[in-house]
Amino acid sequence: MVSARLSIDPRFAVGTVDRRVFGSFVEHLGRSVYDGIYEPGHPAADSDGFRTDVLDLVRELGATTIRYPGGNFVSGFRWEDSVGPRADRPRRLDLAWHSTETNEVGLHEFSTWLDKVGSELMLAVNLGTRGTAEALDLLEYCNVPGGTTLSDRRIAGGAKDPLGVRMWCLGNEMDGPWQLGCRSADDYGKLASRTAKGMRQLDENVQLVVCGSSGATMPTFGEWERVVLGHTYEDVDFISCHAYYQERDGDLASFLASAVDMDRFIETVVATADHVKALKRSDHDVNISFDEWNVWYMDRFQNVEKIKGIGNWPTAPRLLEDIYSVADAVVVGDLLLSLLRHADRVKAASLAQLVNVIAPIMTEPGGPAWRQTTFFPFAVTARLARGTSLRTLVSCDKYRTASYGDVDVVDTAATYDEDAGRAALFLVNRHLTEPATVTVDLRSLPAMDLLEAPMLSDSDVYAKNTLTEPDRVTLRSNDTATCKDGVLTVTLPPISWTALSLG
Ligand code: AHR
Repeated sequence: MVSARLSIDPRFAVGTVDRRVFGSFVEHLGRSVYDGIYEPGHPAADSDGFRTDVLDLVRELGATTIRYPGGNFVSGFRWEDSVGPRADRPRRLDLAWHSTETNEVGLHEFSTWLDKVGSELMLAVNLGTRGTAEALDLLEYCNVPGGTTLSDRRIAGGAKDPLGVRMWCLGNEMDGPWQLGCRSADDYGKLASRTAKGMRQLDENVQLVVCGSSGATMPTFGEWERVVLGHTYEDVDFISCHAYYQERDGDLASFLASAVDMDRFIETVVATADHVKALKRSDHDVNISFDEWNVWYMDRFQNVEKIKGIGNWPTAPRLLEDIYSVADAVVVGDLLLSLLRHADRVKAASLAQLVNVIAPIMTEPGGPAWRQTTFFPFAVTARLARGTSLRTLVSCDKYRTASYGDVDVVDTAATYDEDAGRAALFLVNRHLTEPATVTVDLRSLPAMDLLEAPMLSDSDVYAKNTLTEPDRVTLRSNDTATCKDGVLTVTLPPISWTALSLG
């Protein structure tokens, strides 16, 4: 049996948890939109063709903002194709995913869907094959109340009120050789700066995200951030981080410690941003939008799924449809802990993605929609992690990993909402075989009772939810949790994720 002791004290505040940290991502990719959120012939479809069973699940997931329409897709996207009368919209080649984009669902339809969900739109502009002018046109179309050609075109398209899009991504993964229009840091930084300045001239309220590296393993990581921020520091609010994790070569111990990598990634980008801040003698911070993160078995896409051929451009093919295990969900839950631990600087994040494509929600055409294992830690954390993130003062046994050296067996994060009189503690036991006993000193908080203790754990860590067995994995209550005289004790099964809600 391994053990961990920690204390939670409201004086050790990290920062306010921005609700936008619980964002997600819908890209025109595979069956994310078509046969995902939108399937007009489905028995559960509403009058707009949106699946109400999917809508219910997205609401239950609690995604606060949704990044759209890509991803790699956006770097070849002509936004004008996706507005105006549907019958006139062109069918286009999507080079990113070697598919056909019908434009049946476009900006207006997606915005209608978001209204039904109750989430905020985060739009990406194409800085791959296009540039500043087209980005300004899209911003005018979305946010200007009326009286100009583009804003009036929006009104004619059915949206009388401006869409009021607040967050904008200045392109996507512009450092990646796979990206249409990929550029050097210097070239991209100049383009992003010009575009950002123009967008602010048009709408001073926009919040802008400049592209960081597409991953910490990119050869230009670190230098890319320094050079890009050198050009854009005063023009932007956020720099993006993207990270995907997978179990490699059967090394489950390292995979379970993926949040160690995310911690280091965030801290490196924050240090680089702050270095540029010092050089610029700036008085504002550039924060992090971790706008793509998840478990993704990317090798499968590279080696098996890639579509090829000049005559082969399918519509909504099955792509990136990873089926997640309990172990994957424990890692997703742990990555959320890393985001919460950095609540002072990670002010937005997007679980990539939402439906069918590396997603917490799966659908079958004409059939059911169901929750993947990864749905559970996200939904519970989005519901319970409110107020201020608190540093947890932990002393804990370690275990050895091939990728990250010795790491804590028990990973933790805590939040405290003083106004609501609520606290939440999130715990992951990364040990492959041993349960962990955890003792938490809560005496610095007002007296509280334990309200709930949802837990994800299974004797088969590779158990999954599938079309034939959609409820194989669900949350259970961790009944070992007790709270008495300000001391909480709980036992965590091996490879498990637990949330403790107090109030
Ligand atoms: O989320 C899938 C893809 O991963 C996105 O399109 C791209 O931005 C990233 O490489």
